[in-house]
Amino acid sequence: MRKKAQLFLDKHYKIAQTDQRIYGSFLEHLGRAVYSGIYEPGHPQADPCGFRGDVMALIKELDVPLVRYPGGNFVSGYNWEDGVGPVEGRPECLELAWRSIETNEFGLNEFITWARKVGTTPMMAVNLGTRGIDAARNLIEYTNHPGGSYWSDLRKKHGYQEPHQIKTWCLGNEMDGPWQIGHKTAEEYGRLAVETAKAMRQVDPEIELVVCGSSHEKMPTFAEWERAVLSHTYDYVDYISLHEYLGNRDNNLANYLAETDRVNEYIKAVIATCDYVKARKRSKKTIYLSFDEWNVWYHSNAQDQKVKPWSKAPGLLEDIYNFEDALVVGLFLITLLKHADRVRIACLAQLVNVIAPIMTRPGGGAWKQTIYYPYYHASRYGRGTVLRPEIISPVYDTEEYQGVNFVEAIGVLSDEEREITLFAVNRSQDSLMELECSLNNMGDLELIEHIVLEHEDIKATNTEENPDKVKPHNQGKTLVNGHRAIVELPVLSWNVVRLRVK
Ligand code: AHR
Repeated sequence: MRKKAQLFLDKHYKIAQTDQRIYGSFLEHLGRAVYSGIYEPGHPQADPCGFRGDVMALIKELDVPLVRYPGGNFVSGYNWEDGVGPVEGRPECLELAWRSIETNEFGLNEFITWARKVGTTPMMAVNLGTRGIDAARNLIEYTNHPGGSYWSDLRKKHGYQEPHQIKTWCLGNEMDGPWQIGHKTAEEYGRLAVETAKAMRQVDPEIELVVCGSSHEKMPTFAEWERAVLSHTYDYVDYISLHEYLGNRDNNLANYLAETDRVNEYIKAVIATCDYVKARKRSKKTIYLSFDEWNVWYHSNAQDQKVKPWSKAPGLLEDIYNFEDALVVGLFLITLLKHADRVRIACLAQLVNVIAPIMTRPGGGAWKQTIYYPYYHASRYGRGTVLRPEIISPVYDTEEYQGVNFVEAIGVLSDEEREITLFAVNRSQDSLMELECSLNNMGDLELIEHIVLEHEDIKATNTEENPDKVKPHNQGKTLVNGHRAIVELPVLSWNVVRLRVK
């Protein structure tokens, strides 16, 4: 079957310039993300620091501009001091968030060294669960102060003469969640967050701060939490966080693919709440969004893992992603791009082994999961000016969602305005979609390539033995004529159409 849809873009109708940090990711001390993920001394491909070269190569290929660290739920019980200084003196601790033993062999300075090596920027979270203002101000003195004070001189003693200059900080993690160590009410958290923000800014006035929004949009306190927290912190923070994990729990693909419409509404609701507080405060300042945890997460079950005995770096949250998950990740990326004017930071959670695009085997290989590809394409080709899409598409309904476009799409014009890239998903399970694109005020165009991720088995996965079972090809069918393009979107496909301005 074949259906038709239309996409209209105009060079002058802009959403915003992308902040490259929307292609960020997340690395938590959880399961095998750090240990045997990015760090494995003794691995054949480990460098002298113990960082896995094969994993670094994949991360460099993704061109990840920012990595959030060290948690996540982990940070709410973390003493950052345990992870600095001579390794032999670091304590082994019971890590309560994920019921693991944290050896602290890898800590703050190792993370910064690794981040520099892979060419990414660190985004650091402070512990506002078991700790507060004092630990946060000491931490930023250690990381950012040039020297001549106890904590900055301790950093120097540890071998790091220059400050780490960490400029983006999260004020805790998911503090609205009852599962969080040191869970707080919005009032309790709002007060602590603002006082911590003030102290941190006194140490380094150039930092940017992210205050915790809700853990997801279905939290009972959602929106009221944002309002209350921002009413305390508005003048002292720059971003509010959003988190969301999607999953095909009922094996209902039509519904699963529509879930990003809910994410779209979630983003709109957070923007509205920020702007409500702005209006109440008669403020000229705008709060931006940090979608600092997003992904598909449902194949593994965190609760089952929790009853296992205490162990070091147990295999937790190791979701094996299939082809349909890659479509959802593509749809999520399009949704983030649609809000590029307000979403300035976003982190695919996470990066290695734990709900991640990259998997590793201890002592063995590293390979790309299906979701690696849309993330890679967006990070590579999705930087520039996001153009406002007008889409005319046939729609479908599910029990949960009405009027879902079969076609989702967005266009990004490169900075030099020499290239335009279209990202498009066909949600239809039975119809090829012929997408007629009018790309106005960009001159005549020619096709560079049309990349397609498609698969006859929606549950297909990649493994170490068969790492290329799901991978893109660039044999997509696109006909370009002047400023028009006819793009064939195969049934259930992620498409990247790269066009050059002649
Ligand atoms: O990313 C896994 C976990 O999901 C994080 O630790 C937490 O912030 C969220 O609930």
